[in-house]
Amino acid sequence: MVSAPRHFIDLSQIAPQELRSMLDDARARKERLKAGERERPLDGKVLAMIFDKPSTRTRVSFDVGMRQLGGETIMLTGTEMQLGRSETIADTAKVLSRYVDAIMIRTTAHERLLELAENATVPVINGLTDDTHPCQIMADVLTFEEHRGPVKDKLFAWTGDGNNVLHSLIEASARMDFRLNIAVPQGSEPMAQYVDWARANGGRVAFQKTAEAAVDGADCVVTDTWVSMGQEHRARGDNVFRPYQVNEELMKRAKPDALFMHCLPAHRGEEVTDEVIDGPHSVVFDEAENRLHAQKAVIAWCLGQ
Ligand code: CP
Ligand code: NVA
Repeated sequence: MVSAPRHFIDLSQIAPQELRSMLDDARARKERLKAGERERPLDGKVLAMIFDKPSTRTRVSFDVGMRQLGGETIMLTGTEMQLGRSETIADTAKVLSRYVDAIMIRTTAHERLLELAENATVPVINGLTDDTHPCQIMADVLTFEEHRGPVKDKLFAWTGDGNNVLHSLIEASARMDFRLNIAVPQGSEPMAQYVDWARANGGRVAFQKTAEAAVDGADCVVTDTWVSMGQEHRARGDNVFRPYQVNEELMKRAKPDALFMHCLPAHRGEEVTDEVIDGPHSVVFDEAENRLHAQKAVIAWCLGQ
C-alpha cells in the first residue's frame, strides 16, 4: 500500500510535537553544519520548485539546503511551464510526481497549493501563498529560541498589515503556545478563519487599537511590508499605515531586550526605520539564515529522514 505523502502546507495541519521535532532537527543540523560535518541523507533526491512570484530567500535557501542534504533542485516558474498555457494544476502535480521526490511551490491563491497537494503523490511544501507563509514562521521561532529560549508564554506583537506572514504567526501562536498582540488599520485585518482557528485551539490572540498598545511589554516585535506581492489592490497608502511603523519610539514600549523581526524584503522608511532594522534589537539576518536550517528540517521531515 502506498502511504499518503507528508505535505508541509500549514502549521495548523501539523501536530505541535511534529513542529517541535522539526525545530530540534533544524537546530541540530545547523550545529553539525557549523562544526564542519557534512551529511547527504537525500543523495539522489530531487526537489522541484515552482515560483509564481519573485523570491530571494526562499529560492536560495531551498536550493542550498537541498544541496547540503545531498539532493538536487529544479527551479521552475509557472509562466515558463505549460501551467502558464492552462495545463491544470492537478495534471501538473501528477506529472511532476513521476519525476521528482518533492515539490515546493510559491504561488498566488492558496487553493492552487491545496490542489497541487491533493493531486501530488510526493510531498508538497508551501513556499508562500497569498494566505500563509509557514516556512518563514518556522525560521522565526527557531531564531527567537536561539536568542531568548522557549517561545512558550512569550509575548509577540505584530503591527502593520494583516497578511500571509501574520496568518502563519497566528497559527504558530496556538501551536507553540505564545501570546500574540495584533495592531492593524481597520480594513487590513487578518482573515477571520485564522484567528478563529487559533482561538479554538488555545491560541491567545488579542487585537489592540494602537501599535503602542500591541507592543507594550512585548518580547518580540514583528512587522512586514504594507503591500504584499500580488496584493497591490489592497494597498491603502502610506498615511493609513504610518501609525503602525516600527521605529525607535515604538520599540521603547517593548521589553528592553525585545527582538525585532521582519521576514524581508523590508521597505525601509515605511514599515520599519533604518535605526530599528539596523539596530540592536534586530535579528532579521539571523531569520534569513535560519530559513536555510529550518527548511532543511522541513524537507527531511517530508521525505521521512
Ligand atoms: N522572506 C521571504 O520569503 O523572502 P523571499 O521573498 O526573498 O523568498
Ligand atoms: N507578505 C510578503 C512576504 C514576502 C516574503 C508578501 O507576500 O509579499
